[in-house]
This record gives sequence, structure tokens and C-alpha cells, in this order.
Amino acid sequence: ARVAVLISGTGTNMAALLYAAKATDCPYEIVLVASNNPDAGGLKLAEAEGIATFAHPHKGLSREEHDGIMHEALIAAKTEFVALAGYMRILSSGFVEKWEGRMLNIHPSLLPKYKGLHTHERAIEAGDSHGGCSVHLVTAELDDGPILGQTPVAILPGDTADSLAARVLIAEHQLYSRCLAVFVGRETSPDHLVAQVRERAL
Ligand code: GRF
Repeated sequence: ARVAVLISGTGTNMAALLYAAKATDCPYEIVLVASNNPDAGGLKLAEAEGIATFAHPHKGLSREEHDGIMHEALIAAKTEFVALAGYMRILSSGFVEKWEGRMLNIHPSLLPKYKGLHTHERAIEAGDSHGGCSVHLVTAELDDGPILGQTPVAILPGDTADSLAARVLIAEHQLYSRCLAVFVGRETSPDHLVAQVRERAL
């Protein structure tokens, strides 16, 4: 399956997906790395790996205009699935509609807890035993779609947001490539996968 990865920054999740795709039995290939930030570090990494890249700043454009430009780049690359990976843009409903059911995101919390930003601070502040990460289908509602996979990460005494984030990132890198491979290679419908995750989570 042809996967495009959208990034805004370092792109460590993009790198994890890219390296996992080198396995001969991986059911997806990364065909494009696109960003709203021409300086995103992940773009240089993708180029060095021989993967097509696209970048267009969102400055001065409406959300719909910029999403339209990104959509065209995805179509030009014959994208089948979109993996958001540190893509720090709220997507317009028009864009989500075009990709709903074929677009995943990774979020650094055990959803439905801590949607939005500063997830690690909030988990520590709340005295939670675990932080973690979630891979979910993207819907118009921020960080709200059906969950495909989650990894709880124990919070240690003295953890800061940064020290927890560093461990959660390790979990993210494993979770995302596994969820994406299962999702694109699935024989069943997404809701079957969602049900499986729900069973495991209970
Ligand atoms: C990660 O915490 C990820 O969960 C969030 O963006 C952060 C940076 O990701 N979406 P990356 O290193 O740019 O992949």
C-alpha cells in the first residue's frame, strides 16, 4: 500500500515508519513525505532515503487553501493512505472528508484522555500511573477518531514531561508501524480492528 506521511518537525515517527517499510514483509511503502514547514528536519531525511518530498508553508493561506495544496500533492503521489506524524495543523473538514477511513494519526496520550497539547504534563500533574500513546483513525473532531492501538508507558517517580516524552516516543515508533501495517494489510474492516483493540484494552 502507498502511504504518504505528513510532518511538521523532526519526524522521528516518520523515520520509524520509513525504516519499518524496508522490511521485505512490510505491507506498505512510504511514497511521499509532505510538510507545511519547508525546514522540517524529516524532509532532509526522506530525501536522503530517496523518498519524494513536498513542502508548502501555510502562512497567508486559508486552512482550506493550504489543505487543498497538500491534497493535490497526495493525489500526485498516488497516495492510498495518509499517516499524520507530528503534523501540527488542524485539518479542515473538507480535507478529512476526502481521506476519512484512510488517514491515521499518532497522539502522545492514552486517548480519550488528554486530547490536544501538553499531554505528558497533564498525565504527570494528574498523578496517573501511566502515560502512553494512541494510533487512531482521523475524523473531523481533533484526536477523537476510533482507536487502532495504544501503548501504556509507566510514569516514574521524578519524571518530567521531557523524560516521559522520550520514553513514550520509543513506544510511538513501535506502535505506529505495527498499527499501520495491520491497518493497510487488514482483511477485516476498520471497525473489526477497533473492536479488537477495545477487547485488549478492557
Ligand atoms: C510526538 O510526540 C507525536 O506523538 C506527536 O508529535 C511528537 C513529535 O513527533 N504527534 P515526531 O518526532 O516529529 O515524529
